[in-house]
Amino acid sequence: MSQTTASPKASHPRWLRLTHWLNALAVLVMVTSGWRIYNASPLYDFSFPNSITLGGWLAGALQWHFAAMWFLAINGLIYLAFNLFSGRLKRRFFPVSPKGVLHDLWAALRGKLGHADLNHYNQVQRFAYLFVMVDILLLVLSGLVLWKSVQFPLLRELLFGYEGARRVHFFAMALLVAFVAVHLVMVALVPKTLWAMIVGRKEQV
Ligand code: HEM
Repeated sequence: MSQTTASPKASHPRWLRLTHWLNALAVLVMVTSGWRIYNASPLYDFSFPNSITLGGWLAGALQWHFAAMWFLAINGLIYLAFNLFSGRLKRRFFPVSPKGVLHDLWAALRGKLGHADLNHYNQVQRFAYLFVMVDILLLVLSGLVLWKSVQFPLLRELLFGYEGARRVHFFAMALLVAFVAVHLVMVALVPKTLWAMIVGRKEQV
């Protein structure tokens, strides 16, 4: 949707800011309660420190996890629907190509990537944001298999059975945590983006 009038416009509309912060909260609850659930039956040779988990014990963690999963999935669907039907998804996140991502990454590493226009995501951001959308989708789908394994036989087979789905769920979580860590560093490096995500920045477009 092209804007022809020079009217002031928020770089981040209200629906985006709301769904973004609700998503951040849901992800925090899902990940920390998920760690507690993992600790009850670890897949690998380590556990997460209980002090950074949520729920107090397995049953408590499951309740948090099951409550927040609705929140995460419904909020995510609202975010995707707004993005798709407004044409914003295409406008903001495409085109994106391996060459473009590498080019912008190289420019960023040399401190040569500008942040003047908050209405424009560079290719590294595009890739990272699209990646996390797909990653959360994978988390929800593999979570469905773990929750209702018998009811989703096709999904279960696609994710290499129940045990396979557990591993997919675990690695998708690890990638999500890695994304959040990098995301927070990026935000700290360019703090004005945080302000825009909180209040929406009025810009001439
Ligand atoms: C306290 C934690 C977080 C902070 C402070 C934060 C901050 C921000 C900021 C400032 C932006 C705008 C970036 C820009 O304009 O250049 C942004 C965008 C975004 N963030 Fe976060 N974020 C947080 C957590 C998360 C989490 C947990 C996720 C997902 C797992 C996430 C996913 C995204 C996505 C997908 C966008 C792009 C949104 C769009 O334009 O449609 N963020 N975040």
